[in-house]
This record gives sequence, C-alpha cells and structure tokens, in this order.
Amino acid sequence: MKNALITGITGQDGAYLAQLLLSKGYRVFGTYRRLSTPNFWRLQYLDIFDRVTLIPADLVDSSSMMSAINVSAPDEVYHLAAQSFVGASFDQPVGAGEITALGVTRVLESIREINPAIKFYQASTSELYGNGNCVPQNEQTPFHPSSPYAAAKLYGYWLTTIYREGYGIFACNGILFNHESPLRGLEFVTRKISNAVAKISLGLQDRLLLGNLEAKRDWGYAPEYVECMWLMLQQDKPGDYVISTGETHSVKEFALKAFEVVDLDWQKYVEVDERFLRPLDVECLQGDSSKARRELGWQPSVKFDELVEIMVREDLSRWERCRRGEAFPWDAPSYPSEARILTRSLHV
Ligand code: NAP
Ligand code: GDD
Repeated sequence: MKNALITGITGQDGAYLAQLLLSKGYRVFGTYRRLSTPNFWRLQYLDIFDRVTLIPADLVDSSSMMSAINVSAPDEVYHLAAQSFVGASFDQPVGAGEITALGVTRVLESIREINPAIKFYQASTSELYGNGNCVPQNEQTPFHPSSPYAAAKLYGYWLTTIYREGYGIFACNGILFNHESPLRGLEFVTRKISNAVAKISLGLQDRLLLGNLEAKRDWGYAPEYVECMWLMLQQDKPGDYVISTGETHSVKEFALKAFEVVDLDWQKYVEVDERFLRPLDVECLQGDSSKARRELGWQPSVKFDELVEIMVREDLSRWERCRRGEAFPWDAPSYPSEARILTRSLHV
C-alpha cells in the first residue's frame, strides 16, 4: 500500500484528490491549518473525513512541513496548499510570496533532506500565462504573470523544475486551467454565481454584484482534473503538463447560462460593482492539453454547459435543504454578505 501526503487537503482539490487516492487504495495523509474554527466541511461532504489522517502544518513554518513528511513517510507528495485566490493576492502580496512561493521550497527542501525518492506534484496554474500571450496556451507558451499570485506560482514552477533537473527528484508541474465544482470556494466567480442564482431563484437574494464580465476562462470540472495529478506521478519520467478543456467562455456567458438553468434572465439581476475589479486582470485563458491527452491518456468529459448546470443544481438543492431545516456540511450559511464587509477592495 502506498502513502500519499496532500498539502491543503481541506481545499477543493485536496478533498477530491483524497477521495480519488482512497479509491485507489492509498493511505492518505493531509495537512491542515489550525484555525479558530475547524474547516473540514469538504472532507465531510465527500464522507471521507474518517478515512484520512490529518497533520497540522503551515506553509510558512518549515519545521511543520518537515514533520508532516517525516510522520506520513509518503511515496508521493501532492503540493496543493497555497493562498489560491488571485484577487486577495493584490491585497496581501507579501503573503503570496511567503505562502505560495516559498512554501514550495519548504516542501521540496524537506523532500530532498528526508527522502529524495519521494515523487512531487506542484499545483502550477494557467495564471502563469497572464496577459499578452496568444491562445491556445500549451507547455511552450511563454509566461507573463499578471498578479502577485501568478508571480509566486512562477517561482514555484521554476523551483519544481530546478529540483527535478538539479537533484533528480521526480517533480512535476501540473499547469491546470480553472476547474470548478460544488466544492469551490465561494469567492471564486463560478461558485459566487451558482450560489447567488440559487438564492435569487428561491427569493433569498435580489441581485448579484460582479466585476469584469468580459474575462474569459477555460473552465473544467475539478473531480476530473485531480485524476491528472495522480497520472503525472505514475509516468516513467517526470514532466510538465497543461490540463484544460480547450474551450473558453466569458464570465458573462457563465452568468447567462447559470440564470438559464432556473429560467431567469441574468440581465435583470447582475450589476457591475467596481469593488470586484482587479488592478490587473487576465483577459483570456484557453488551454491546449494535447500533451496530456497523448501521454497521460486523459481527456475531460464535462464541458461548460454541464459544469454550470451541476453547480447551480447543487447550490439550489443545498438552499432547499437548508430551508427545510436540514443540517449538513456546507460553507454558504456562515459566509458574510457583501453588505456587511467594509474592506477597501472586497474580492468575493
Ligand atoms: P483552495 O480550495 O483555496 O485550497 C487551498 C488549500 O491551501 C486549503 O486547504 C488551504 O487551507 C491551504 N492553505 C492556504 N494557506 C495555507 C498555509 N499558509 N499553510 C497551509 N495550508 C494553507 O484551492 P484549490 O482550488 O483546491 O487549488 C489547489 C491548488 O491548485 C492551489 O495551489 C491553487 O493555487 C492551484 N490551482 C487551482 C486551480 C483551480 O482552478 N482550482 C487552477 C490552477 C491551480 P484552509 O482550508 O485552511 O484555507
Ligand atoms: N472572484 C471573482 N468575483 N471574480 C470575478 C468577479 C467577482 O465578483 N467578477 C468578475 N470576475 C472575474 C475575475 O476578474 C477573473 O477574470 C475571472 O472572473 C475568474 O476569477 P476567479 O474565479 O476568482 O478565478 P481566477 O481565474 O482569478 O483564478 C482561479 O483560477 C486560476 C487558474 O487559472 C484560481 O483557482 C487560481 O488559484 C487558479 O490558479
């Protein structure tokens, strides 16, 4: 039986990856941060909370990362933990460097010191391409990061390459394009829309405030994307892979489609609020995942329309259950409404 360590097991991808690895017979360990209120709803939602071993660790603390690797004795490390919200990286740019960039070095150094035979997956991102690059983007497309988050991820990308080439560590970059699901955090635009559409259709909310409606993303379905992380570490040689659907759609299209699911006209409810505009935004991402399709034998089956439908229907069902008085693991009810937050720039 193999051991796997997932940093960031409490996040969207961490939870789905844990579920996948358990189904493949792995012993699964995961790091979590000590918070004033525990944040295990995704693991509970997937009904796997009791099947994983949790290790407290923070990416800013090297000793805790070292200890996580010592305790879990992993064959494979999936490094997913990061401050993953691009908008927040403009508000906390130093944190982006500390957590999202240097965190990678702390994990790689621990592997190098403890057991260089451990295989390593780095959660790289399509944000590396930023603005100024033509689409579709593949492994050869130059990077042009356009946020503190993307710059931090660029550092992580190169550290992964350097440890592979310099120390012979089996280290891979998964250059994943946006992937969404009902487990997506509520700040991200897709889940913000699906949650609002569900509430509006039930009369619990009257409008949806968004930022840049013209931005285009290549949106896929998260449970399908975590499979690629595992596939990369099962190859004979380590490498870097773009993972994407190959389609691109605007935020406006996502909103239109989501309101269509509940037979409402998006234009009656969506308003642009400048608080949700970023100092710099990536205008268009569209991936070319031919290499992954060829070498990993992977291809996505859930495309845009189905993804939107899955997310809206799930949020609708949650709000209906909530109204019936059911209690279940879920994030939305504890989330503050926009009207109650008074920060300078509110990226929710
Ligand atoms: P997510 O839901 O935001 O999860 C991020 C995880 O990192 C959470 O478990 C979080 O813990 C943890 N974390 C944050 N700061 C930490 C710190 N200082 N120390 C330890 N753990 C910390 O993100 P995701 O969507 O699952 O994405 C997983 C990874 O893939 C991230 O690195 C992200 O940047 C990258 N990525 C995501 C996408 C996408 O579209 N989803 C695309 C490309 C790349 P808490 O639960 O305590 O906050
Ligand atoms: N969050 C948010 N909220 N985004 C909005 C809003 C809003 O109200 N209105 C418009 N947008 C636009 C953003 O400006 C951006 O252009 C697009 O919607 C997508 O924003 P997010 O859903 O926050 O995701 P992201 O593309 O910035 O980043 C995600 O994908 C990356 C991969 O490309 C994250 O998961 C990153 O961690 C990941 O690396």
